[in-house]
Amino acid sequence: MEARVKRRAFILLVSCIWLPMAVLGGTGNATVSSFSRPKVVNFGALFTINSVIGSSVMPAILAAVDDVNADSTILSGTKLNVVLQDTNCSGFIGTIDALQLMEKEVVAAVGPQSSGIAHVISHVMNELHVPLLSFATDPTLSSLQYPYFLRTVTNDYFQMYAIADMVDYYGWKEVIAIFVDDDNGRNGISVLGDALAKKRAKIYYKAAISPGATKSDIDDLLVSVNLMEARVFIVHVNPDTGLSFFSKAKSLGMMSSGYVWIATDWLPSALDSSDSVNKDTMHVLQGVVALRQHTPDSDQKKTFASRWKNLKSIKTSRFNSYAVYAYDTVWLVARALDLFFKDDGNVTFNDDPSLRDTNGSSLNLSSLRVFDQGQKLLQILVGMNFTGLSGQIQFDPQKNLIHPAYDVLNIVGTGLRTIGYWSNYSGLSVTAPEVLYTKPANTSTSNQHLYNAIWPGETIRRPRGWVFPNNGKPLRIAVPFRVTFEEFVKKDKGPSGVKGYCIDVFEAAIDLLAYPVPRVYILYGDGKRNPSFNSIVYDVAQNVSTCRFNNLVFLTKVLSFNIYASRFL
Ligand SMILES: *[C@@H]1O[C@H](CO)[C@@H](O)[C@H](O)[C@H]1NC(C)=O
Ligand SMILES: *[C@@H]1O[C@H](CO)[C@@H](O)[C@H](O)[C@H]1NC(C)=O
Ligand SMILES: *[C@@H]1O[C@H](CO)[C@@H](O)[C@H](O)[C@H]1NC(C)=O
Ligand SMILES: *[C@@H]1O[C@H](CO)[C@@H](O)[C@H](O)[C@H]1NC(C)=O
Ligand SMILES: *[C@@H]1O[C@H](CO)[C@@H](O)[C@H](O)[C@H]1NC(C)=O
Ligand SMILES: *[C@@H]1O[C@H](CO)[C@@H](O)[C@H](O)[C@H]1NC(C)=O
Ligand SMILES: *[C@@H]1O[C@H](CO)[C@@H](O)[C@H](O)[C@H]1NC(C)=O
Ligand SMILES: *[C@@H]1O[C@H](CO)[C@@H](O)[C@H](O)[C@H]1NC(C)=O
Ligand SMILES: *[C@@H]1O[C@H](CO)[C@@H](O)[C@H](O)[C@H]1NC(C)=O
Repeated sequence: MEARVKRRAFILLVSCIWLPMAVLGGTGNATVSSFSRPKVVNFGALFTINSVIGSSVMPAILAAVDDVNADSTILSGTKLNVVLQDTNCSGFIGTIDALQLMEKEVVAAVGPQSSGIAHVISHVMNELHVPLLSFATDPTLSSLQYPYFLRTVTNDYFQMYAIADMVDYYGWKEVIAIFVDDDNGRNGISVLGDALAKKRAKIYYKAAISPGATKSDIDDLLVSVNLMEARVFIVHVNPDTGLSFFSKAKSLGMMSSGYVWIATDWLPSALDSSDSVNKDTMHVLQGVVALRQHTPDSDQKKTFASRWKNLKSIKTSRFNSYAVYAYDTVWLVARALDLFFKDDGNVTFNDDPSLRDTNGSSLNLSSLRVFDQGQKLLQILVGMNFTGLSGQIQFDPQKNLIHPAYDVLNIVGTGLRTIGYWSNYSGLSVTAPEVLYTKPANTSTSNQHLYNAIWPGETIRRPRGWVFPNNGKPLRIAVPFRVTFEEFVKKDKGPSGVKGYCIDVFEAAIDLLAYPVPRVYILYGDGKRNPSFNSIVYDVAQNVSTCRFNNLVFLTKVLSFNIYASRFL
């Protein structure tokens, strides 16, 4: 097939140069551009077929190719042919597959879903001028380093801002990020850190899991984060292994009241496309909040859903949001090629001069050839504007899909309940984003809304998001051991060791809290002179624990009260 394309291109070249008059004169209606249309154009598809995302993506791609080829209004006369390569979840195999794909002279490649592979392949695509339309969500792939990378799903950059907005909305200040330590996980969490900082919140601890983590690694990790004071966990892992994670958390008692779990879109992807989510899995996930890429409801989407079970090569009877994006991506390629051919584009490949000196190597690198007009096709792709299954397909100047938005879901009972939406346009809302786009944007704090979530432990009470560290250390409160104004604070024989007006106020405030605050009072000073406030404040800041006076450890009531009071509010 490739041979045919090449030979045809060769003949064309000859006819354009030597026989233009004969061609025009002979047939009357032939033009040069209609001649440069090949019968078949190849595009590649790279993904792990046997994966949560791949099993939704593959049938959608095949269906879209059939639909394009059956539609006479597009690519008149030229058939679209897809060359499938299975990356098999491996960075190395994925890279080799991508190179093999390039040997087949494809004009564009769709995939991969894996950000790690996308990073490597993007270098190949840059060299060979073949646009890569990818489902990888790693924010750093949008960098200027990868001009031929075009993402046809929502950039995780926006997902991280959505999470930061939720953390802010619920009034939490510190989160623990649990992520797979690969390109996708690391780069996503790095954006989360920036997004939280803008909301004056932060990542308290980054808990990285190795890509091949065993059950016992995950166990150790969960046990260690459980000792920390933050109780808001952001889980950014991959859909193929993530579910086992929550059963571990459940067995450690971490899916109970007081905990907050926010999962990125891997979780809905896994649940939406799985036939085998049983009651036990859903039971474990009760109270989890998750994000899913938002696509507006439309008749086209409904029709696609009703077709799904009759599509070729389906592995599951349900599909996730990636199927919808994959279908649109093939149409994006088809529509762009249509314009490309109409604009006298031609599909020719040439040797890459930088790959010539591979003498003696059995890797036949000279078979990788440069798509001459790849740059032109890329420009057309970036400028496309049409309505697909996933809504309007158009790219902003940063080459992100316009209108990034997510559904905010809460797992309750046996299903996913939508408690609202997030859009870059107006933040959190209970109104679908496409309705909001018709109104002026309003991201004011008072305009942020979500329906009540049901949290782990079956409560609608918003979890506080932190606890006193579970390691038995009480809050240490330094009390000036005064000799004047003893009404305020003085040494006492009672169990707390201190008494006075300040102590009463502090104790009354503690009593208002719905949870116990373990605390000890420590006298600061020798009881012969009033201690200096400057030195007491200084010692608290320095966490002094030596016996400068005849006592142990010092903290000021004033400071510690302020620190903790600010979190109660
Ligand atoms: C392909 O198109 C370019 C520019 O439109 C033209 O210069 C070139 O000769 C064409 N090649 C063939 C084989 O038609
Ligand atoms: C001329 O154009 C007509 C209609 O587009 C088409 O049916 C016919 O095959 C063309 N003739 C040649 C020689 O390409
Ligand atoms: C994919 O990888 C798995 C394990 O890494 C291996 O068993 C399997 O044969 C591979 N499949 C293909 C098609 O390469
Ligand atoms: C390639 O190898 C052949 C024989 O192995 C040698 O004659 C030729 O000079 C080499 N060419 C380059 C560019 O190294
Ligand atoms: C290398 O690739 C070129 C172009 O596809 C082909 O003509 C050549 O036979 C290949 N060489 C080997 C050793 O496979
Ligand atoms: C894209 O298409 C939509 C609907 O067809 C239209 O409203 C919008 O103006 C178009 N945008 C551009 C930049 O052409
Ligand atoms: C997202 O929102 C920010 C701030 O409102 C804006 O600057 C940016 O252009 C938006 N991006 C998209 C893709 O809508
Ligand atoms: C944004 O929404 C809030 C609450 O609904 C409202 O009070 C405010 O006036 C709105 N701001 C704008 C600019 O529309
Ligand atoms: C402060 O000192 C106490 C007692 O030595 C110690 O347990 C604690 O870890 C210290 N805190 C910091 C932040 O260094």
